[in-house]
Parts: sequence; C-alpha cells; structure tokens
Amino acid sequence: MPVQVIVGAQWGDEGKGKVVDMLSERADIVARYQGGANAGHTVCIGEKTYILHLIPSGIFHNHITCVIGNGVVIDPAALMSEIGQLQQAGINITGRLLVSHNAHLIMPYHKQLDSIREQSSNKIGTTGRGIGPAYIDKFMRVGIRIVDLLDRDVLAKKLKASIEEKNQIFTKVYGETKIDVDAIIAEYQEFDKKIDEYITDTSAYLNQALKEGKKIIAEGAQGALLDVDHGTYPYVTSSNPTSGGACTGLGIPPTSVTDVVGIVKAYSTRVGNGPFPTELLDNTGERLRTLGHEFGATTGRPRRCGSFDAVALKYSALINGISRTVITKLDVLDAFDEINVCVGYELNGKRLKSFPSDVKTLEQIHPVYETFPGWKTPISSARTFSELPAATRSYVQALADLTDTKTWIVSVGPRRDQTIVINQ
Ligand code: GDP
Ligand code: IMO
Ligand code: MG
Repeated sequence: MPVQVIVGAQWGDEGKGKVVDMLSERADIVARYQGGANAGHTVCIGEKTYILHLIPSGIFHNHITCVIGNGVVIDPAALMSEIGQLQQAGINITGRLLVSHNAHLIMPYHKQLDSIREQSSNKIGTTGRGIGPAYIDKFMRVGIRIVDLLDRDVLAKKLKASIEEKNQIFTKVYGETKIDVDAIIAEYQEFDKKIDEYITDTSAYLNQALKEGKKIIAEGAQGALLDVDHGTYPYVTSSNPTSGGACTGLGIPPTSVTDVVGIVKAYSTRVGNGPFPTELLDNTGERLRTLGHEFGATTGRPRRCGSFDAVALKYSALINGISRTVITKLDVLDAFDEINVCVGYELNGKRLKSFPSDVKTLEQIHPVYETFPGWKTPISSARTFSELPAATRSYVQALADLTDTKTWIVSVGPRRDQTIVINQ
C-alpha cells in the first residue's frame, strides 16, 4: 500500500494526530502536505501528551522519516521551537526530518496581516498564524521559499522587494508603521544555519521511496469542510486539506494513492466562525465540550460543539474518496441518554439532495435529526468490537450506513492502545 492519505473528514481536530501516530507503526514515512502551524495534532503516549503543529505525527516512532512537503507553509521560528521541544523530551530527530526546499515561509508580516485583517467585521476567526497571507504571497508569486534561505543575496533581494510592497499596504491601507527590512533579513538569515540540515528535494525523496516499495502516510491538517475549494467558503483555511491536496502538496502522483482514510469524530466540533448546522448552544453542547476536552490544541479557544452531521460527512466522503473511516472519541458519548444524528437538511420544507456550497443556504437550512439510544457505560477499556455495548455498535453501524462509508477502526480514548480495529 504505497500512499495512505489521512484526512480530517469534518472541521478539523478529529484526532488525526492520534491515528497517524498509531498507524505509523506499520509505515516508513509520514509526510505533511498542507497547512502550517495552524494545526495542532495531539499524540498521547503513556502519561505524556505532545502537541505537534508542523512536524508530522509519526515522529515518535524511531523507524519513521518525517517529511514536511512543499504544500506546507513554514514558520521557521515555530519549526525551530518544535524541534527544540522534541529534543528536550528526548526524541531523537537527527536524520529523521526532511523539509521541502520548495515550501513557502511564513514571515512576521504574514502574522501581522492576519491579525490586522481579523480586526475587521467579517473576520474568519483564524488561528493568527499568518496562514492566509503566506498562501496569498505564494499564489501571487512573491513568496519566499525555504530554498531562498540558502543564498543570502537572493534572500535579501527578495525580502526587500516583498517588504517594500508590504510597507505600502501597512502604512497606506492600514495606517500602521513600516516593517524593518534589515531586522527581518538578519533574523531569517540566522535560520539558514539551523534549518540547512533538514532541507532537501522531498518530492524526489518520496518518489524514490515509492520505487523502493516504502509505505508513506500523507498526513492532512485541518479538515475537508475547511478546504478552500470544497469547504464552507469563506470560513475556511487557505489550503486543500482534502485528499487531492496530498499529491500537489508532496509532489507525488495520484496513481500512488491507494487508500484514503477519513478521520471522523463521533460528534461535531468547529473552531472559529462560519456555518455549523448541528451546533448545540445548550447544555448538551457544553457537556460535549467538557467531556471531550474540546479546547483548541493551537489557540486554546473553546471549540463549538454539536451533533454528528451525516449530510456533511457524506459530502466529505465523496470529495475525498474516503475508502474507510476511523471513528474517534466514541467514549465521549458514554454519558448521554440519547444521541442525535443529523440525517438530512431541509430548506423551505424541502429536503436538499446535496450539501449546499454557499454559506447563506447553509445558514438557512434546518437539520433533520434521528435519535439513537445512548449506552450509559464506559467503553474506554474495550479492545474488540464485540466488547462494545449493543447500542454503541448500533451507533457506529448507523454512522456508516448514513454516510455510505466503511468503518475500519474506532477510537475509545486518546492513547494508542485505546483503539479497536473492526475490519483488518
Ligand atoms: P487533530 O488536530 O485531528 O490531530 O486533533 P486534536 O489533537 O486537535 O484534537 C483531538 C483531541 O482528542 C486530542 O486531545 C486527542 O488526545 C483526543 N483524542 C483523540 N482520540 C480520542 C478518543 O478516541 N477519545 C478521547 N476521549 N479523546 C481522543
Ligand atoms: P487541525 O490540523 C480546527 C480553522 C480556524 C479558522 C479557519 C481559518 O488541528 O485539525 P487559519 O488560521 O487556518 O487561517 O484559520 O480554520 N482552523 C482549524 N480548526 N483544526 C485545525 O487544525 C485548524 N486550522 C485552522 O479556527 O476557523
Ligand atoms: Mg487539532
């Protein structure tokens, strides 16, 4: 199985970190293909909890090589800090981390622009990590890439040109002070020495690995409904978390992908603004937040919580080509008497045939719910599907039936061992 793509099937934070760490046992390479330090992927090993923002979640297995692909936007300060934290925790990353020479850099002015834009009335509720502005520069063809760090003259020339234009925007549009070009040049030239050992042509590396029959996990960040093309635009991130993004974001052919695994939370959450048809603003939502510890791994913001949305998931499975799913956080539902699942959307009394692509319609639809009985018993220690209560098994089966997906694994706790493989 050459390339297995792991995608967040909802609005992010589905538990991709846990699943990628767990699946890494049987892989050779784990590669991130999009996003940046907006991601927060949690891996719990024994009593220890690690939160990764840029480094792939396979890093805790010594046999794994981790790749940060060309599609990722890299804040070198965040990367260095993450490398430092892992080293302090005794994780050996020497020779195990490769960074694409073609990946774009997040500059201090990207974060500044992100924060200024978020002060407007149509704010997205971004993570403030400079993601949107960095991708704007990439597509405007004025971005600074990792490879530019290697040549001081090129870096200085490109930065000067880019900052000159940015300064016009800062001073004339936003009434802010100018950015100090020399300070930024000096700061980023320093990264050259530190980052040099990791830089390589990762696309060539991955294609060679494919030739050698190695198994690659492509780790998505965010989720399908935050995809800039397929998500709830404009309340999305600025990249393609959907499975197609894995090929462009790593420089590997679509024919190398043989498996697309959708990570699916047993209920729904969303961080930031934008439509959320099944959001629960009541006590049930509050209980989900508390029991599921639903607070952002990157910003600490409380996550908005709601019922499972089968309409959204069916759409996500379609655009990602999900071959099988991992249902996470099933144990969070242990305490509920009954569990609602959204099985359809109604607009003006009519059932919609597909997931609406515009925000206005999404805000107007009425979710139609089906209610399932809860199991009212702890399931975190179950290790086989048959050990789960009948009501839990029915709920898992219903999610699969309602979304036209096959369930591969269910997760009943944050640790590696709290996992049940249903179908090998
Ligand atoms: P990611 O961004 O998709 O990697 O997900 P996050 O790490 O942001 O959020 C998922 C949270 O749920 C983390 O705190 C995980 O440790 C935790 N988690 C993952 N799987 C399970 C599970 O099956 N049960 C419980 N209770 N927690 C889980
Ligand atoms: P992981 O990989 C959940 C959300 C932000 C905001 C929108 C745009 O941990 O699942 P951005 O900073 O990307 O410009 O913000 O996207 N967002 C996430 N929500 N999980 C994430 O990552 C997210 N990364 C960005 O909250 O609504
Ligand atoms: Mg997260």
